[in-house]
Amino acid sequence: MQPQPIIIDCDPGIDDAIALLLAFASPAKLDLLGITTVAGNVPLALTTRNACLMRELASSHSVPVYAGCAAPLVRAPVDAGHFHGASGLGNLPVSQPDQPASPGHAARWIVDTLRQRPSNTVTLVVMGPMTNIAQAIALDADAVQRAQCIVAMGGARCEGGNITASAEFNIFADPHAARRVFQCGCPIVMLGLDATHQVRANPAHVAALRAVGTRAANTVASLLEFTLQLPANDHRDGGVPLHDPCTIAWLLDPAAFTDLPCHIDVETESPLTIGHTAVEFRVSADKPTNARWVVSANGARVFELLVQSLRHLP
Ligand code: BDR
Ligand code: CA
Repeated sequence: MQPQPIIIDCDPGIDDAIALLLAFASPAKLDLLGITTVAGNVPLALTTRNACLMRELASSHSVPVYAGCAAPLVRAPVDAGHFHGASGLGNLPVSQPDQPASPGHAARWIVDTLRQRPSNTVTLVVMGPMTNIAQAIALDADAVQRAQCIVAMGGARCEGGNITASAEFNIFADPHAARRVFQCGCPIVMLGLDATHQVRANPAHVAALRAVGTRAANTVASLLEFTLQLPANDHRDGGVPLHDPCTIAWLLDPAAFTDLPCHIDVETESPLTIGHTAVEFRVSADKPTNARWVVSANGARVFELLVQSLRHLP
């Protein structure tokens, strides 16, 4: 089988960085065409630098990085530096990358790439606020429709929110963009908190990664150690959720997840519930299926995949 062509849109961010390394480690299954960055966990200049640093760590110099939107479509920026550290990469030592991002805007590059490639072949993997994807839709909605699928981390149903009572960070950070993406007509798979809270990193996982001994595995171990010592994190079952790598794991091993068809809309007005994802399983003519909502994830299987994959990087 030919590797699946993908574009990763992200805001690294600790878990985005781990997801990037998992993708870089999987060239037999994933053809990473490029990485686009957006403001989210930390400002755009830092998410872009962090994506370039992960590319360098993986020695994947041929994968281009494009910076995108520095702010959400409508609302003021919010960040999640309290979960990711001021740099976005916990307490990893950071420097300027050898190779900067490529010139040009992420949304334009996404549209051009989808136009150049055969229709229905490229998957968009979205790990941050959906601003760049909404911007790409605004530029050329038909081009975005050419994507085979959008696989995104975001939203919450049963679990409730992680930023407010009902909103998950990525959707909360740009609810207007998310709403446009859910209306765009592309097949969408959503890995929200209901799924990602079932994939928890604990000290035993850190030890397994240290035992791998590669630079990439040690980096992931250090990032997870930072996350594990955060008092503000959700420490249920002795572990902390590993959100964004679930998108890549879903592509590599879909049998580790189960999903249901649904209609998703996003609250964009209410000060109390802005960013809430209304996930409706009772689809109907006025609320047709526009996404699949992942309801379960096999955490042990995802970690095994991560540990084994990171053996392939320097
Ligand atoms: C999401 O929010 C960000 O902080 C993480 O990188 C992840 O994409 C989890 O709610
Ligand atoms: Ca993210």
